[in-house]
Amino acid sequence: MSLLENLQWRYATKKYDPARKVAQKDVDKIVEAARLAPTSSGLQQFRVIVITNQELKNKIVPIAWGQEIVAECSHLLVFAAWDRYTEEQIDQIYNLTTDERGLPRGRFGSYTDKLKAMYLPQTAEQNFVHTARQAYIGFGLAIAQAAEQKVDCTPMEGFSTDDLDELLNLKSKGLKSVTMLPLGYREKSDWLAPMKKVRNPKEEFVLEY
Ligand SMILES: Cc1cc2nc3c(=O)[nH]c(=O)nc-3n(C[C@H](O)[C@H](O)[C@H](O)COP(=O)(O)O)c2cc1C
Repeated sequence: MSLLENLQWRYATKKYDPARKVAQKDVDKIVEAARLAPTSSGLQQFRVIVITNQELKNKIVPIAWGQEIVAECSHLLVFAAWDRYTEEQIDQIYNLTTDERGLPRGRFGSYTDKLKAMYLPQTAEQNFVHTARQAYIGFGLAIAQAAEQKVDCTPMEGFSTDDLDELLNLKSKGLKSVTMLPLGYREKSDWLAPMKKVRNPKEEFVLEY
């Protein structure tokens, strides 16, 4: 099936079959799509946390407004972005890039100096607005890749980011949660599964100039 057909197939699953687990190779591909996401200046300002521990998933239900899908799913992905920019983070990815490409370190020094001059004086909140946006790019690609694998998922913002950050100890890693993506297989009784997918018509959605 084509990507568009798979995007028609997918929907924000409301009930998972807790007995069905997603194969590791499928989870790996979904995470890989997020890892391959383009990001601003190639900084990869986000990470993906993969949770399978049932006890931990159960603890997240009250943090996620009581949404049981978090416990019933097979794997729970958390997309978390840098809580602020640091010089070290910018240097790390550029050193990796030059090393991998056989270029001298510092080859992009004038560009990274510009990035540091732009981001480091900003507040952590301003930084996070930007880093979180990058996480959404990976999030979108993971949703599409899940559809390609015929794995059900639910894009989620409905949770307390502060409480989740505390539970997962994200502050110590310089991260703040942005979104969650439960993965699994739909329960037959899911009320949303047979419903028509509704989107604004193209004429409304596209503005041609
Ligand atoms: C950023 C984002 C946050 C969302 N948060 C939730 C959520 O917390 N719980 C939920 O059941 N659905 C959530 N949704 C699902 C949307 O309601 C759903 O994607 C939208 O209605 C379109 O329907 P479809 O995904 O089934 O095509 C979220 C979707 C996105 C993109």
